[in-house]
Amino acid sequence: MRERDGQGGSPTPGAGDGSAHGNGNGNGNGTGRPAGHGAGHPASEAANRADGNVGADGRPTMTTRQGHPVTNNTSNRTVGDRGPTVLENYHFLEKISHFDRERIPERVVHARGAGAHGYFESYGTVGDEPVTRYTRARVFAGRGKRTPLFVRFSSVIHGGHSPETLRDPRGFSVKMYTEDGNWDLVGNNLQVFFIRDAMKFPDVVHAFKPDPVTNRQDPRRIFDFISLTPEATHMITWLFSPWGIPATYREMRGSGVHAYKWVNADGDAVLVKYHWIPKGGERNLTQAQAEAIQAKDFNHATGDLYDAIARGEFPEWELQVQLMEDGEHPELDWDPLDPTKVWPPEQFPLRPVGRMVLDRNPVNYFAEVEQVAFGTGVLVDGLDFSDDKLLQGRTFSYSDTQRYRVGPNYLQLPINAPKVPVATNQRDGQMTYHVDGVEAGEDPHVNYEPSARKGLALAQPAGRAHTPFVSGPVVRQPIARTNDFQQAGERWRAFAEWERQELVENLVGALGQCDAAIQQRMLWYFAQADAEYARRVAEGLGVLVPEAPPAGVPAGRPIEAGNAVG
Ligand code: HEM
Repeated sequence: MRERDGQGGSPTPGAGDGSAHGNGNGNGNGTGRPAGHGAGHPASEAANRADGNVGADGRPTMTTRQGHPVTNNTSNRTVGDRGPTVLENYHFLEKISHFDRERIPERVVHARGAGAHGYFESYGTVGDEPVTRYTRARVFAGRGKRTPLFVRFSSVIHGGHSPETLRDPRGFSVKMYTEDGNWDLVGNNLQVFFIRDAMKFPDVVHAFKPDPVTNRQDPRRIFDFISLTPEATHMITWLFSPWGIPATYREMRGSGVHAYKWVNADGDAVLVKYHWIPKGGERNLTQAQAEAIQAKDFNHATGDLYDAIARGEFPEWELQVQLMEDGEHPELDWDPLDPTKVWPPEQFPLRPVGRMVLDRNPVNYFAEVEQVAFGTGVLVDGLDFSDDKLLQGRTFSYSDTQRYRVGPNYLQLPINAPKVPVATNQRDGQMTYHVDGVEAGEDPHVNYEPSARKGLALAQPAGRAHTPFVSGPVVRQPIARTNDFQQAGERWRAFAEWERQELVENLVGALGQCDAAIQQRMLWYFAQADAEYARRVAEGLGVLVPEAPPAGVPAGRPIEAGNAVG
């Protein structure tokens, strides 16, 4: 068997010219050259075969994916040492055709990332209250309880090997393998987002991605879109400040951005926002610092994370939450479900609930960091969604893209599979790895439910269901309390002077490439946020701040109630 696949009978090093690989037929090359080129098996190879693919020196023996030991990994099987190549090189065909398929589609956004394993340790409390008062999620219950997790940090716009010094939001994704199944928290470092309706997501991404003709990122395209999207003003203020280039992943904050819900044993819910605060402090780069790093190293953030963990310096974050009573909160002049807003910490204090430590590097980047699949829909009992419209759009998008990017059975991969037993009636599809549930005792004949035979049972609810009541007309309509500029102005005033200076210079650098109409719309937005903010950007551009809304600034909110046609 082994010899038929063409790996058998390779010459021992130095025993021939290595170009003709014997196949055990005694001649082995079909060229009329003397038999002996490649015929016969070295003694060590015989030993390999006897002891289950472990070499004599204890190193694992190379095999094909069929389990056949490989005796020659450098020369194709050819007709004589000058070829031509014969087709029955199973080892070569397997090796090259697998190589041809090494890449899977990149993530459509967040293609460049770095990841690590670690654990979450709960405090059992939220601030000084028992956490069970607000959530029955067992991942938080009990002091010192540890849950294994995997984290992936990322930049957003460019491809898998793009520089890590680019101005870009950073992704901060955490997958916790809890005792109740997986919980994913897929966030960013800037606490807010550009838009608040999922319908706009492909557009904002297209505007930031390279021009489809020139393949270059282009500020004229970015600010064409942004200058018609006033709700992005807060996010742009963060992004063009030094916070748009975190120094390293270890010194970066994470934020869930959206309001989610916590649900307790009585089914009562509160709104919650999540924040990961790096224990080592937060640090960001000026444009000049980023350029100096990029001149020598375009992988600095990945390298910093990997090397620190390899040295035993395990990065740590505290998970802090903000809580708010569930409801619409008409007393606020912004909407608590609006992902373009922060909840001011003076009003909604950050309360610690646990800590995260990253203590193990991936063994294989592709199997772990590339194939890991996070999604906002992946919650456990005691955690729930809010009605944030952006969050709801995301919850469809993530698993949809992952079924395409990784494959329909992506959840059977070790990095994505929960660490609790899985038993479903989902079957088949590309790359089915095993039958969910059979290990747990499911009768493999019964892949349907209900069944009086030995099918799967249903779980008992862990507590009273949270049953929010929703009513209203079905409309296509933005939220009422848009308040697009106030928090951008507060952010401007909260920045240190060097951060303001950087923000102005970075905006001037980008807007200086844009036409006057775009500049005027952006200046109008900055003026709504803070007069000094607008004045300084205008000075840098050598233009005046407009005194009335320039052409193109969206006026109010369009109402298209009842328009069900997309
Ligand atoms: C409607 C809005 C959004 C949509 C439709 C969307 C969609 C996507 C998609 C399709 C991916 C690729 C996932 C994959 O291939 O595995 C992705 C990745 C990601 N998104 Fe979003 N996204 C949205 C908004 C956001 C927001 C607001 C945040 C931050 C709070 C965010 C953070 C991330 C992160 C961190 C990743 C990378 C996940 C990883 O490391 O694998 N996204 N997003």
